[in-house]
Amino acid sequence: METKWIHIKEEELATEEAKKVIGQAGDIIKEGGLVAFPTETVYGLGGDALNREAAKKIYAAKGRPSDNPLIVHIADKESLKKITDRIPDSAKALMDHFWPGPLTMIFEKNDKVPVETTGGLDTVAVRFPCDDVALAFIKAAGGFVAAPSANLSGRPSPTTGAHVYEDLNGRIEMILDSGKAGIGLESTIVDLTGEIPVILRPGYITEEMLTEVLGRVENDPTILNVSEGIRPKAPGMKYRHYAPKGELTIVSGEDEAVTAYINEQIRMRKKEGCRVGVIGTKERIDRYESCVHKNIGSRRDEAAVARNLYAILREFDTEQVDYMYTESFAIDGIGQAIMNRLLKAAGHRVVEV
Ligand code: TXA
Ligand code: MG
Repeated sequence: METKWIHIKEEELATEEAKKVIGQAGDIIKEGGLVAFPTETVYGLGGDALNREAAKKIYAAKGRPSDNPLIVHIADKESLKKITDRIPDSAKALMDHFWPGPLTMIFEKNDKVPVETTGGLDTVAVRFPCDDVALAFIKAAGGFVAAPSANLSGRPSPTTGAHVYEDLNGRIEMILDSGKAGIGLESTIVDLTGEIPVILRPGYITEEMLTEVLGRVENDPTILNVSEGIRPKAPGMKYRHYAPKGELTIVSGEDEAVTAYINEQIRMRKKEGCRVGVIGTKERIDRYESCVHKNIGSRRDEAAVARNLYAILREFDTEQVDYMYTESFAIDGIGQAIMNRLLKAAGHRVVEV
């Protein structure tokens, strides 16, 4: 299959040319095909959420296990009522505060949503993104677009159109490319089907922000720990996602001790003939010995750290780095999401120094 890779700018959406492209992308979805599209978090791999054959195609294109449910993307709040018959008050409050935006909520699904889309579950994850290209595309596609992140299963989520092309060229009909994603980590997922809201995946909408609206939220116990015998409630969180090909270690402790430990590892691994990489913050990156250095952004700007993380993991793959070391981050605010993704990429390999 030939994949059309089309560049489209948010500020030019009103032009005839852009309308034509969005129309074509929408038609592909209505005919059961697949289109990758930008969102404010990461790029999504879209198919018609109400078409079971399209859902199957998404799993096949990604090489994703079919028990891992997809998020249904909508372009207005009204659409939610068409796919669930129960919207709890907690959800209404969150919708008022955070939709459109990087928050996904879990609802009981109704019969409109095929089980192929929800990986066999009787609940459905729903998200109303705030990216204008995404919204125009979802509307043109009929209003319900199932979309996992547009990476091959097991690779870091794509934050640029080029990342999508790298993974899915030849497997999908079209890529809508509007440049670098603003947030860079996947949406926060909250389960509202039980008595107490539970965060299944941390993201840009933080625990603190959710608590302010809801009064009380809990974290799925697997977010920052590997707990023997406890399965994460979001099926996708159990896979070793976001994993670079080499071995990543998170080094945690006082600044000086972290630098010393990483430098010692760089020397040792280089002696063994391996390629080594370091993920460091702007403030500290110059302190590391010569190897593949990646400046992830300032420690004072965690949004930048979040935005840069996946691209760096991909670069390490391209540069065939064998061993990678990264500084650690505080787990409050968006740091919780950063650490959750880093821990997964590292297979929970953490050294305390
Ligand atoms: O930011 C995002 O959410 C991106 C963009 C494209 O919108 N999408 C995304 O989708 O990250 P994906 O498929 O890569 O991750 C969806 C996660 C998986 O861990 C999946 O198991 C979980 O959501 N999930 C989906 N439906 C669920 C459900 N009904 N119950 C529990 N977890 C669910
Ligand atoms: Mg994903």
